[in-house]
Amino acid sequence: MKIFRTPGEMRRWSFEQRARGKSVGLVPTMGALHAGHRALVEASAARDDFTVVSIFVNPAQFAPHEDFDKYPRAFEGDCRLIEEAGAHAIYAPDAATMYPEGYATYIEVKGLQDGLCGKTRPHFFRGVATVVTKLFNAVQPDRAYFGLKDGQQAVIIQRMTKDLDLGVEIVTIPTVREADGLAMSSRNAYLSREERERGLSLSRALFHGQALMEAGERDAARIVEEARAMMTDMKVDYVELVDAANLQPVDRVDGPVMLTMAAFVGNTRLIDNIKFKG
Ligand code: PAJ
Repeated sequence: MKIFRTPGEMRRWSFEQRARGKSVGLVPTMGALHAGHRALVEASAARDDFTVVSIFVNPAQFAPHEDFDKYPRAFEGDCRLIEEAGAHAIYAPDAATMYPEGYATYIEVKGLQDGLCGKTRPHFFRGVATVVTKLFNAVQPDRAYFGLKDGQQAVIIQRMTKDLDLGVEIVTIPTVREADGLAMSSRNAYLSREERERGLSLSRALFHGQALMEAGERDAARIVEEARAMMTDMKVDYVELVDAANLQPVDRVDGPVMLTMAAFVGNTRLIDNIKFKG
């Protein structure tokens, strides 16, 4: 397994593979990898000649009061999972390499970054868009893989890639869940056994909303209200039914939508969503 620490050495390796006519796939992550990440790596390994997994806990997407310091870090275990899943290289720069003194350039995706998670975490998508652009520049991938678990993030990355002519094909994959429905997340490691049990209300509420839509319910307020009523024992941040393409709230389901939610279980913020074709 090759491990690169600087954009220069990463780019050189990638350029060599592409010069030989080989394709390069990138799976951006913040580490503490689980089966959701593994599914992304496997998707790239199945499609691209070479797969690079980036591991970087990006300070630019955490506010000062958030969990940057305690975000789980598990580099050795991550390397094993990445190798088993069929990847070829890891890009793991440190914060000083990514954001040296004097760093001043940020990417913003207006409109899309402001609603849903952007309301509670106004700094967040600017940090994500910036770091993903930097990762694309270092790795120069043909394709990059993102999970639909972070539905708003996937829409923002697609918009940004198109707007800035980054020339990377964005591939999305469905959310990987635990057997009981809880969406896999590195932050699940924060949950006590009792909190994890409470966290299940999130996916239950989503599945209920999905069942309503499948049964023909089209009134957005009704769907949101019923889903919210199921989110007991947690502090709801938001529950919204939005247009899957532009993330604007809808009144009625008459096209592809995303039912999306965030809630605090204890101190841990969990997010989840499902898409419905409409
Ligand atoms: P991270 O939370 O580590 O997630 C890395 C990738 O794994 C993202 O594309 C995310 O959507 C995907 N993922 C996480 N949980 C998943 C699940 N249960 N099923 C399917 N995919 C899942 O998202 C980030 O890191 C960062 O914001 C990043 C894009 C790396 C920029 O710093």
